[in-house]
Amino acid sequence: MKLLVTGGAGFIGSAVVRRAVAQGHQVVNLDALTYAACLDNVASVADNPLYVFEQADIRDRAALDRILAKHQPDAVMHLAAESHVDRSIDGPGTFIDTNVMGTFHLLEAARAYWVARGKPDRFRFHHISTDEVFGSLGATGQFTEDTPYDPRSPYSASKAGSDHLVRAWHETYGLPVVLTNCSNNYGPYHFPEKLIPVIVLNALAGKALPIYGDGSNVRDWLYVEDHAEALLLVVARGAPGRSYNIGGENERSNLDLVRTLCAILDRKRPRDGSYADQITFVTDRPGHDARYAIDPVRIREELGWRPSVTVEQGLELTVDWYLANEPWWRALQERHGVGQRLGVSA
Ligand SMILES: NC(=O)c1ccc[n+]([C@@H]2O[C@H](COP(=O)([O-])OP(=O)(O)OC[C@H]3O[C@@H](n4cnc5c(N)ncnc54)[C@H](O)[C@@H]3O)[C@@H](O)[C@H]2O)c1
Repeated sequence: MKLLVTGGAGFIGSAVVRRAVAQGHQVVNLDALTYAACLDNVASVADNPLYVFEQADIRDRAALDRILAKHQPDAVMHLAAESHVDRSIDGPGTFIDTNVMGTFHLLEAARAYWVARGKPDRFRFHHISTDEVFGSLGATGQFTEDTPYDPRSPYSASKAGSDHLVRAWHETYGLPVVLTNCSNNYGPYHFPEKLIPVIVLNALAGKALPIYGDGSNVRDWLYVEDHAEALLLVVARGAPGRSYNIGGENERSNLDLVRTLCAILDRKRPRDGSYADQITFVTDRPGHDARYAIDPVRIREELGWRPSVTVEQGLELTVDWYLANEPWWRALQERHGVGQRLGVSA
């Protein structure tokens, strides 16, 4: 397949790009290169004849038309987004512009391209979204594809808005879309403002390990390489108009997760005492959802996907990667806002 991947210089998008090229797909990586992007994430495929990079903004309709006409993809995998909840609390406008309006422009460009080609059945517009659109769970239960939407942060509301647009373009125009809603990803190339890299890098630097509230918030952790595999399955075999929830089957509270990371670091980079001594509880994020959990039965039964690692195995791989790739994360730590507490202005 020839895939147009938006956001392919980000965390998940770059995992999709690397895996797709490894599987023999042609890939056009369309990315605006915002603060969250890093072309080093795709350095391993940069010289591969299957790979092309196009710097463009998904809000720039003319650029989208030009790139679609030039490369003639079989599918669009749309991952470009503003993705950090704390940043969405401080500055929601960018999230609406990129996640809602950007998705609108991309849908319109994809629709025009699909119509011009005679509306091929095999074309796919794959929107990559989040389980945060479903809101927050209590101690029990899981999100299914039929769970009503109940977004609670500017980020999740903007992703819910874009999901609705994608469904409407299927119902109204017949565009062959697929959607996926995944849980929290982690793994190599995770930008150093998100929880897991913050904990690893602060631990190594001897800094406080900040835990929001009492650390009881539960997330269903999904290893990014498993997610990329699931996305490539969905774009190839997912039914038009259908959505698939993707979860790691690895629920952990934030506090348990951080303690596990500290135990791994204690083994791999021993020092006096435990890294867990650096754990510090800080003021909670406003509107912090208590628990997310995914019921992944549809993607398992219809497409045969399931996660390949437990969270303990995935965290080992992740810590090894950060220990081996210091130049990568040192450069990103210099970027605006990274390392500061964000999202407390509400
Ligand atoms: N990280 C997670 O745990 C998670 C969980 C669920 C869903 N998602 C979704 O998966 C997708 C990818 O997430 P991520 O963590 O890799 O994000 P990321 O922030 O690491 O990367 C986003 C990429 O999109 C690009 N981008 C941003 N605005 C753009 C624009 N206007 N035009 C073109 N490119 C633009 C950035 O330059 C960056 O390379 C997002 O849609 C996100 O909502 C992420």
